[in-house]
Amino acid sequence: MYQCQICAYEVEPFISFGRMPIANGFLTPAQFEHEYFFDLIVGYCPKCKMVQLLEFVDREKMFHEQYAFFSSTSSFMARHFGMFAERVMQDFLAGVCDPFVVEIGSNDGILLENFARRNIRHLGVEPSANVAEAALIKGVTSICAFFDENIARQIVSKNGHADAIIAANVMCHIPYLHSVAKGIKLLLKPDGIFIFEDPYLGDILEKTAYDQIYDEHAFYFSLQSIQHLFSQYELEVIHTEPQNVHGGSMRYYISHKGIHAPSSSVMTQIDKERMLGLHQRETYELFRKSVEKSRDQLKQLLLNLKNENRRVVGYAATSKSATVTNYCSITTDLLEYISDTTPIKQGKYSPGVHIPVRPYEEFKTDYPDYALLFGWNHAAEIMAKEKTFIGRGGKWIVYVPKVQIIG
Ligand code: SAH
Ligand code: TMP
Ligand code: ZN
Repeated sequence: MYQCQICAYEVEPFISFGRMPIANGFLTPAQFEHEYFFDLIVGYCPKCKMVQLLEFVDREKMFHEQYAFFSSTSSFMARHFGMFAERVMQDFLAGVCDPFVVEIGSNDGILLENFARRNIRHLGVEPSANVAEAALIKGVTSICAFFDENIARQIVSKNGHADAIIAANVMCHIPYLHSVAKGIKLLLKPDGIFIFEDPYLGDILEKTAYDQIYDEHAFYFSLQSIQHLFSQYELEVIHTEPQNVHGGSMRYYISHKGIHAPSSSVMTQIDKERMLGLHQRETYELFRKSVEKSRDQLKQLLLNLKNENRRVVGYAATSKSATVTNYCSITTDLLEYISDTTPIKQGKYSPGVHIPVRPYEEFKTDYPDYALLFGWNHAAEIMAKEKTFIGRGGKWIVYVPKVQIIG
């Protein structure tokens, strides 16, 4: 029996991907022998509605001084976070004397640099030392730590309470959310705002975006599950806003209870979740069937291309690609290499299936026939950049929302 991480009720497993490696664990051949694997299984809690992993990987195995994901590799995301920062400044910091902003999971400073540039007092809490160091170099004040209740208390005693706490693509990474919620409760000023965004469960189910499921993503949030968690700490969701990033995310605005009247977006979203069937067991069974179908179609397509002697290369060694390659058994038989712009990934091998990761320059100088778009969440940015590849007869293979060839 698996207990819900949030409410301790019995979680119902609905999909298993089998043994999976650390999604950002790119490795050298010397490390193959001792590679770490765990059971990637997802379940639904019928009581508090939280969708969650059933086995969590130790945080130190994922977030450390060799963390491979640098947020600033995407210029589209840099623009997105620039606009996020503008909204926070205009809507919540204007007129506040000497405001203080805290970010959880600030990575290389992609969001906080917008505050640093305007000399707004800020602090990033980031446990992966190498990316935190990149932020410091940009002038973003960061501490190397995992956010929790204790860290929140330390920040209050050293820097005071926060006018705004922000977090992007990190809340869903933290299994011990009760400690995080307690930390937010004590760090936030009485009229302060906590804003966070993460991939949205509704989008994952609707688009069969099963590659959002990997070790780092401990939770797949809905508004209902978020309300249930934070209401236990007298914190209230006052507004929600869908975001067109990472294949569909949701931004949640949370304040101390009774401070702001919730906007109509909250009721509208709850109704939408009912329509999407997020509270029904069958919805998750249907998702599993769609995932299995998607896996079979992608595998068949790659086998057909291999039989036609076509060259196929992976485009962007995203964390998500670990689930796809391992679940669909995509090995070097089917994929020559994966092209990626991140120096720390280049020259290494992808987790589990051990496909070589090569610099982007190699892709550009010797185009393959097909590129399997692992970075589908950056499709607009990537396709705009790769007009020459298509012009020379190259084609994209995408698998979200469905397996298809584009070009
Ligand atoms: N906010 C950035 C980075 C997201 S990746 C963006 O949206 O692009 C998740 C980041 O959260 C990683 O840098 C990881 O090191 C960090 N992280 C993981 N667990 C954390 C925790 N408990 N507290 C704070 N940061 C955490
Ligand atoms: P993620 O944000 O989905 O995890 O993906 C980021 C990865 O994609 C990162 O390793 C860099 C890679 N990437 C490219 O190789 N080329 C690109 O044009 C973009 C936008 C990302
Ligand atoms: Zn629960």
